Amino acid sequence: MWKGVWAALLLLATVCVQRGYAKEAKGTQSLGHVSVVIVGGTGDLAKKYLWQGFFQLYANQVSSGYSFSFYGGSLLPNDKATPILFEVLKGVVCPRELSVERCALVREQFLRLAEYRQLKTSEDYQALGKHLTEQLTQEGIVEAGRLFYLSVPAFAYADIAEKINNSCRPTDGAWLRVVLEKPFGHDFSSAQLLSTQLGTSLKDNEMYRIDHYLGKQVVSKILPFRRENSKHLDLIWNKHHIERVEIVLKETLDAKGRIPFYERYGVIRDVIQNHLTEVMTLLTMELPSNLSNTKEVLKNKLKIFSALQHLDRNCAAIGQYQAYNAEVQEELSKTKEHFSLTPTFAGIIVHIDLAQYEGMPVILTSGKMLDERVGYARILFKNDIFCIQSHSSVHCKPKQIVFYFGHGTLQYPAILVSKNLFKPDLMDTEWKEVTEHKDVSVLGLPISDYYVLTPTVEREAYAELISHIFQGRKDSFISAENLLASWSFWTPLLQSLDNTFPRLYPGGADNGNMLDFKLLGREVTFANEAVVMVTQDHMGGSGTESFQVMQGKYRSADMVSAWPEELIVRLAADLQAAAENAVREGGCFHLALSGGSSPLALFQRLARHHYSFPWRDTHVWMVDERCVPLTELDSNFRTLHDHLLQHVKMSYFNIHPMPVQMNQRLCVEEDSGALLYERDITQLVNASSFHFVLLGVGYDGHTASLFPGSKLDARGNSLVAFTESPAKPHQRMSLTLKAINQAQKVGVLVMGKSKHELVTQLSRVKDNPNNWPITGIRPTSGRLVWYIDYDALLG
Ligand code: BG6
Repeated sequence: MWKGVWAALLLLATVCVQRGYAKEAKGTQSLGHVSVVIVGGTGDLAKKYLWQGFFQLYANQVSSGYSFSFYGGSLLPNDKATPILFEVLKGVVCPRELSVERCALVREQFLRLAEYRQLKTSEDYQALGKHLTEQLTQEGIVEAGRLFYLSVPAFAYADIAEKINNSCRPTDGAWLRVVLEKPFGHDFSSAQLLSTQLGTSLKDNEMYRIDHYLGKQVVSKILPFRRENSKHLDLIWNKHHIERVEIVLKETLDAKGRIPFYERYGVIRDVIQNHLTEVMTLLTMELPSNLSNTKEVLKNKLKIFSALQHLDRNCAAIGQYQAYNAEVQEELSKTKEHFSLTPTFAGIIVHIDLAQYEGMPVILTSGKMLDERVGYARILFKNDIFCIQSHSSVHCKPKQIVFYFGHGTLQYPAILVSKNLFKPDLMDTEWKEVTEHKDVSVLGLPISDYYVLTPTVEREAYAELISHIFQGRKDSFISAENLLASWSFWTPLLQSLDNTFPRLYPGGADNGNMLDFKLLGREVTFANEAVVMVTQDHMGGSGTESFQVMQGKYRSADMVSAWPEELIVRLAADLQAAAENAVREGGCFHLALSGGSSPLALFQRLARHHYSFPWRDTHVWMVDERCVPLTELDSNFRTLHDHLLQHVKMSYFNIHPMPVQMNQRLCVEEDSGALLYERDITQLVNASSFHFVLLGVGYDGHTASLFPGSKLDARGNSLVAFTESPAKPHQRMSLTLKAINQAQKVGVLVMGKSKHELVTQLSRVKDNPNNWPITGIRPTSGRLVWYIDYDALLG
């Protein structure tokens, strides 16, 4: 039967050639011919959105003076693909404003102007290029431009771009626009590589990187809405008034049928790195003075990217719907033992380091197989009114602005402003206020509590963007800089999540509250913890109390041992007790802290639970530092700052980072950084004896930055020294054994199964600081306590 269809299509194509492309433009001045080629023209996206979008473009432009021809291309041979294409083309629908007769005519013309071409080899592209040029000559028409839409996997981009460059460039004076669908890479370096590869064939102004969220009507009106309502928003668009920003895309669909793609990308790369991030920048960027100035918009977006605080795995809660793994096994032909760690759900908290937004959480969340399909960005404002009686009166209710992308309870795109905020102005005549509502609730408020703005005519995002490509409007597309800035923000989080187990969720309404997550400062955790089973047998069953925290001896010093959490609770309590004692006795507490990952949990515990810690009278010193600027992520001071110092109220004068950077260089002996630090210690710390020094111990037995083989005794009487680490960055500054051993109390924190062997080995070795620097820790008159968790102690 398709043979008949194909014959009909061929006939139509012939008619098209006979009748000529320029026919529609008759009577109007000819503006030239536009050839559109959809590479991947029979794929899903093309079927669902692209052909419809191009048809709409055609319908809108057919009388404008431009003439068109359309080509669907793919790797398939003509006889296979032509009937598929024909079926798709038959399905296009007219814009509502066209009359029935006009619609029939325009559709028929569109069908005549479209044809399939196999686009596989260089010869295929050469033939296409030749065909396009010959058609122009035959018709005697001027060329306006060529538009290639690459709706194919990203790995094919560079090759196709090269073929286009070699054989399909338009005639002189006409434009070339090549549209690229996401994903543009899967991390920073692959995006950079792709960008470089494409750059060898295409100029930047020829590339249109599409993010269809920028074509959604509500998203494209975020900046105009902010501008039009700036008299209200200028005062409240900041941390003092905004409680939090939520950007949400919930989907009910699963990833079935797309597993080869999804398994490689997961939810963060699929929709958060691009769609939700774009929305976040539009909401938080400084308003450009001219909204259509692409350069200014980009500059302001980039400012937001450079102010985003670094993300680590604690900033995200991830999940995977239960059936996903079986889908992966099936679609990727994996065995039953295979299990995937790809997240299909993520809740992420982002902070922006700008005075305007400091401390204001931005939550980005998305997932497959959730209870409903809805997308929105909600700005929730603080409500400073205390209601005594009528809690349902409007000024007691949440104050919020919701950019509602569509679906959900409302079912149409809208911008909603709660009535206790202000009455918004319309952005333009293409938007209207909705005054009659059906009885629905949107994010906790009945619709009647909002002013509601909506587009007069609903338009599909792809159709919008296709018309922007045609107009050469680059402001709705992703620039290379924007793209790389986004990947450089997301890549560290993605890497840190690489081996993290996502929480499994059943899917749909059954998820209940399993995926609810809570914010704790800069961190996110699921609100309801999964139950963890522990066995107590191997502890010898001595009552719950003693089971939780055990006292004992290790290397003939005191030892406290417990499960990790209890150990940290105990260490934090010991620290607070030492601090209170020191302040009571001498007015201040001198604490020296190490880097590394073990103390992070301690820092967090102190920041979140020890509100009565005498921080105002505490001096914080560093046990050691890497020779990198203090702002670098691997600086010990930076870690301490991010996890503790920035959360507690201390005097800046009492914070003592090590001076590793002096005279614009790092750790140079003649800059005397070590001496300077030593002098500060001598001047401020009574008898240079810290009240508490917290140490860790490395796999090679190093402590502070005192490494095996570094002749520790040769340091004489100095308190601070430059040292060398076998690991990068090699240069370090460190307290010496002398400085540490002068302390009143030294705690050594050892955590994690991976330290078990080390703990066993250390329990056997004699004191030999040159081989095992940690064994040189013998406080002269103070006390040494080992804090070892059960994982490290028992393996
Ligand atoms: C696409 C993602 O970019 O966006 C899909 O690849 C996702 O996984 C889709 O379903 C969501 O877009 P929309 O327009 O349906 O919200």
